[in-house]
Amino acid sequence: MRLDRAVALAGLTRSEAKKAIAAGRVRVDGAVAADPAMKVEPGRVSVDGAGPVDAGPQYIMVNKPAGVVTATEDRRLSTVLDLLPEALRRRGLGPVGRLDRDVTGLVLLTDDGQLAHRLISPRWKAGKLYRAECAGRLTGDDVRAFAAGIELSDFTARPAKLTVLRSGDERSVADVELTEGKFHQVKRMFAAVGHPLIALSRLRIGPLTLDADLAPGEWRRLTEEEINALRASVALVELGVRS
Ligand code: URA
Repeated sequence: MRLDRAVALAGLTRSEAKKAIAAGRVRVDGAVAADPAMKVEPGRVSVDGAGPVDAGPQYIMVNKPAGVVTATEDRRLSTVLDLLPEALRRRGLGPVGRLDRDVTGLVLLTDDGQLAHRLISPRWKAGKLYRAECAGRLTGDDVRAFAAGIELSDFTARPAKLTVLRSGDERSVADVELTEGKFHQVKRMFAAVGHPLIALSRLRIGPLTLDADLAPGEWRRLTEEEINALRASVALVELGVRS
């Protein structure tokens, strides 16, 4: 690719990249490079002496706090992308599925469109695990209702596994795993069995678990193992799409 494009992958706009090249801040294989149109492999390019430019797909997990929207931009509200440093915000990452504004927990951001598509598509049945706190006492009847598939006004939810962790007269806590993600689906399922939600947090997408060391608002890159496990879970590694 062109040198200015490779430099932009380090988090610069195209015009900042051109200026950095003109200022002699860009090296290819250790030697200062001056031609923005020069053809290069991004892995051989460095800017301001930093490590090589990472041109591959990016995979980031975020612990979304309440109040932040799962979008790439919003005129009024903070977005999950606002939680990332500037260089990553310019990489064209998007969230894999959405969490409501008041819902917390795991959001995966990536520019790997094929992975994102498969993780969202009900066809691939990637499980999403949520921790839910709801009003009232959850019972075996609720577990059976979730397992049977709850009827909502516009569709019947697929069977979902409800595991009750704490059950009290006032409030209960449960984990619920779904393989689809329609609008407000978990809230609507709990409301349908008479237990309106008090709080909801996503803990896992497919094999990817929210890192317990990430405080709300923090992010980290996925490890190679996590990326491979995610891709394998939707049959991408076997296809040799990523070595
Ligand atoms: N279900 C909901 O109701 N809201 C979410 O954000 C995710 C799942």
